[in-house]
Amino acid sequence: MSTAGAAVGLGNIWRFPYICGENGGGAFIVVYMILIFAIGMPIMISELTIGRASKKGSGGAFTKLIGNKKSKVWRTVGLLGVIIAFIVSSYYSIIAGWTLDYLYESFSGKLVHLSNSELQGYFDHFMGSDNAQIFWHVIFTLLTTLILSGGISSSVEWFNKITMPFLFLILIGLMVFSLNIELEGNWSNFFQSETIDFLFKPKWENFTRESFFRALGQAAFTLSIASGTMISYGSYLNKKEDVVNLSAIVVVMDTFVAILAGLMIFPIIFHYGLEPGSGTGLVFISLPSLFSQIPGGAIFSLVFYFLLCFAALSSSIAILEPVVTHLIDEVKYPRRIAAGLSGFLSLILGITWIKVSTLEHSGTFTNVDKLVSDLLIPIESVAICVFVGWALRKKLFLKTLNSHSPLFNEVLYFVVKWICPIGIFLILLNTF
Ligand code: ALA
Repeated sequence: MSTAGAAVGLGNIWRFPYICGENGGGAFIVVYMILIFAIGMPIMISELTIGRASKKGSGGAFTKLIGNKKSKVWRTVGLLGVIIAFIVSSYYSIIAGWTLDYLYESFSGKLVHLSNSELQGYFDHFMGSDNAQIFWHVIFTLLTTLILSGGISSSVEWFNKITMPFLFLILIGLMVFSLNIELEGNWSNFFQSETIDFLFKPKWENFTRESFFRALGQAAFTLSIASGTMISYGSYLNKKEDVVNLSAIVVVMDTFVAILAGLMIFPIIFHYGLEPGSGTGLVFISLPSLFSQIPGGAIFSLVFYFLLCFAALSSSIAILEPVVTHLIDEVKYPRRIAAGLSGFLSLILGITWIKVSTLEHSGTFTNVDKLVSDLLIPIESVAICVFVGWALRKKLFLKTLNSHSPLFNEVLYFVVKWICPIGIFLILLNTF
C-alpha cells in the first residue's frame, strides 16, 4: 500500500488528464499503456530489487552492489536519482499546496457557489498570488517533513491502508456523477459519449513525436521511478514479498486511478464545451464545477480534496525520502535532522520556482517538470537498466526478486537488459 501510495498521487489525478488532453486522448492512452507495462514496470522492479539487495538509498546502492565504492559512474547515477527526487519534491509540494487551498475553500463552502467563469477567475487569481502559493507550499512541506522525521514504515503505512481504498471509492462515485451529467441521465448513450470517444478511440493525427516523450515521462513520473524512491522503498521490503507481484499490483492500481481520473474530468469538460488540452488548471477548474452540479457537492468537494491531499502527501513523502535516506546513509545525520534539512531545502527551491514564475505563473515549474520527467528521468532510467542488465550479477537480481515464475523472470531480465534501454534511447533520439 505504501508503494501504491508513492505511485498514486497528483500525477494520476492532476497531471495525467491534462497531458492526455494535450496529446490526443485515446492515442496517448494506447502508447502510455504500452510504455507503463513494457518499460515502467520492469524499471520499477529493477529499482525495488536494487534497494532490497543493497539495503541502501540511491546514493550508495549502486556502488555497494558492484562492490566498488569508488566507482564514479555508478556513484553519479545514484546521486542523479537523489537530485531528481529533490527537484521533483520542490515543485510537487507547490501543486499539492494548491490542493490544500482547494480543501480549505471547500471547508469555507466558497467553491461550490462559483460559476464556471468565476472558477477560472479564482484559479487565475490564485496562480497570480505568490503569497498564497508560498503559504500552502510551506504548510504542505511541513507536513511532509514531520511525517518523514518519524520514519516511513510505521506512520506512512497505516495512513495509506486507510486512505487508498477511500480514494478509489470517491473516484468511482465522482466518475458516475460526472458521466451522468454528460449523458444527461441517458446511459444508453454511454458508448457514443464524447468522453469515451476522446479517451478510447485513438486519433493518431493529434499524437505528435513529442507526445511519445510525454507518455514516457508520464509513465515514469506516475510510478515514481528513476528518482530514488523505489530504491528506498525496496530497502524496506520484507523478505516474503514477491517484487514482481507487488509491482504488477501497483502498476495496475496506478493505471486504474489515472483512467478513472480521466473518466471523471472529461465529461465535465465536454459538457461545458471546455478545451480538453487546456493545461495544468484542468482539475482545479472542471472538478469544482462538477461539485456545484451534484447533490451534496459541498461534501464531495470536501472529501475529494481531502483524499487528494492525502494521495499527494503519500507521494511527496516518497519523493523526498531518497534525499533523507541519502543524508542518513552518506552524511550520517540522524533521521530528524536529515528530514528537517531536506524539507527546508526543498521549501527554498519551491519558493524560488514560485518567485521566478513567468507571466503565465505556472510557466516556470511546468518547464522544470518537463525537463525532469522528459529528460533527466529517461536518462536515469536507461542507467538503471544498464546497471541491472550489465553490471549487476544476473543471479543476484533473479534471487532478490523472490518471484516464482522462472520463465517470466527470464523474459523480464531480457526486457531490462535490451528492450528498455534501447526503447528509451530511441524515444529520446526521435524527439531531439
Ligand atoms: N508518483 C507520484 C504521482 O503520480 C509522483 O503523483
